[in-house]
Amino acid sequence: MDKKDILLLIDKAIDASKFSHSPYSNFKVGAALKTKEGRIYTGCNIENASFGLTICAERTAIFKAISEGEHDFAAIAVYADTGANLISPCGACRQIISEFCPNAEVIMCNGEKNYRIMTPGQLLPFSFGDKDLKKPTIG
Ligand code: THU
Repeated sequence: MDKKDILLLIDKAIDASKFSHSPYSNFKVGAALKTKEGRIYTGCNIENASFGLTICAERTAIFKAISEGEHDFAAIAVYADTGANLISPCGACRQIISEFCPNAEVIMCNGEKNYRIMTPGQLLPFSFGDKDLKKPTIG
């Protein structure tokens, strides 16, 4: 993606973070997922008093898109206002990104609109996937 499209996707992630439901951590995260055809699905983190039921912004966006029949993704931008640091997807989200967005650029950005792009393979090398569910055939 060119810089203009990257910054546009970051803006969508920033907008999505405004809907964050994060009364426990007060850590607002937004994500914007772009399909190869150019449609954009957004998500925010949604926390729950039973903390383990919290869902991250990345997974909200990905599950929204999958639930509407999308399967081919070009990029996902993830935003949190982390000062000079860049937000980095948690391990659970790396697993989900690897499975559903294996060819997407993962754009990690902060409140200063600095960003870094990595591949799902860089974020989660040697990942578990559908291949690991198949028993090898003998002979
Ligand atoms: N969170 C995300 O939404 N995405 C990430 O990549 C990291 C963490 C959320 C989960 C929780 O609501 C809050 O940030 C603090 O962990």
